[in-house]
Amino acid sequence: MNPPVRRLEEWDTARLAELAATHGTPLYVQDLERVRENYARMAEAFPEGRVMYAAKANTAAAVLRTLVEVGAGIECASAGEVERALAAGAPPERVQYTAVNPPEGDLDYAVETADEHPELTITAGAADTIDRLAERGFSGRLCLRVNPGVGAGHHEKVSTGANAKFGVPIERAPDLLVEADERGFDVVGIHAHAGSGISGEDLAAHRELVSRMGELARRTDLDLEFVDVGGGFGVPYREGEEPLDLQAVARATREALGEVEATLAVEPGRYLVADAGVLLTRINTVKSAGEELVVGVDAGMTTLARPAIYGAHHAIRSLAEGEGRDTVEATVTGPICESGDVFGEYELPVPVRDDLLAVGNAGAYGYEMASQYNSRPRPATVVVEGERSAVDRRRETVADVRRLDGGAPWL
Ligand code: LLP
Repeated sequence: MNPPVRRLEEWDTARLAELAATHGTPLYVQDLERVRENYARMAEAFPEGRVMYAAKANTAAAVLRTLVEVGAGIECASAGEVERALAAGAPPERVQYTAVNPPEGDLDYAVETADEHPELTITAGAADTIDRLAERGFSGRLCLRVNPGVGAGHHEKVSTGANAKFGVPIERAPDLLVEADERGFDVVGIHAHAGSGISGEDLAAHRELVSRMGELARRTDLDLEFVDVGGGFGVPYREGEEPLDLQAVARATREALGEVEATLAVEPGRYLVADAGVLLTRINTVKSAGEELVVGVDAGMTTLARPAIYGAHHAIRSLAEGEGRDTVEATVTGPICESGDVFGEYELPVPVRDDLLAVGNAGAYGYEMASQYNSRPRPATVVVEGERSAVDRRRETVADVRRLDGGAPWL
């Protein structure tokens, strides 16, 4: 069975407790079977389309390898992601590097890689980037990122479609495409991304973006191989929230695109990996502060940054559930010296030190956004598949955190 969403309560408590005991906490657990299921639904919804996994959501090697194995392409946001995608065995014809204000080193790497693997596609979002590619002697597969003038997403910080930072204004696109073609580039596609975490009322904006991309594809005389309408497929972070009706979204996308010769490409990140991951964290402190009950855990904004950055909600479940304890309202907080280091208020079985908590939908933009702030080592990632489990990224130590420390030699 392949349900549209895996809720936090569906994870096997005993298995999670065992993983935490073996590998310590905080610990990311990523289920590769669920990644496969999520991909299968996406591929089924877009049977003639191309599914390009947006690697930025989770670059664990086993996740990349799993998605490559089932046929996904990989959309990369940096040289590092391209390197990881290729190392995971992605065939270069399925790798796309989306250059956003690309630093020199990234462009150098992308052009060198394209020399060796001419099947690689580079997406440029500014005329300036096209010039820089030409300066490096690149004349390979080029995709033009367009700013369609409509954006959407779960938070203003992740709405890109109408943000001038991204892509060339759609009115400029037809001329730029012709110019690039005349300069000898192999112009293969056009690209736009509305934003991240699209659901409900955002879908109309997404359809508008797709329809503008369809128009652009029909307007150009170039023989485009694909029209890439980006990612952004939302997942339900709240327990009662309904999942996207992916079939309906796919139908609406095809309708909005209209007749085009080119293949439709989508770039889901979150949708493929979010509910395949949980974050395990252990309670280390329980304290009453006036009316409030504060619970301190060993994961914080350096482990999972989304609540602190976007005010994002992640479901939390205590693995002590089922022990018959009463429940109470508690504020779950991390170990970082910032008041923003809070997961939120949760109804939990009366918390006791050493209880394990599982944080849901942690598979997307979790480990990827982890930092070493407060000199805190980043957590480990364990991947599971059926009965098997393996460490994909080992836990950092303070020695890892200090590895690059130098110091002024005169001190
Ligand atoms: N394609 C492009 C060009 C993108 O920039 C992104 C995400 C995606 C695809 C995939 O979007 P998704 O399907 O995962 O929504 N850190 C934020 C999300 C930032 C997304 C940036 N771009 C968060 O935790 O919500």
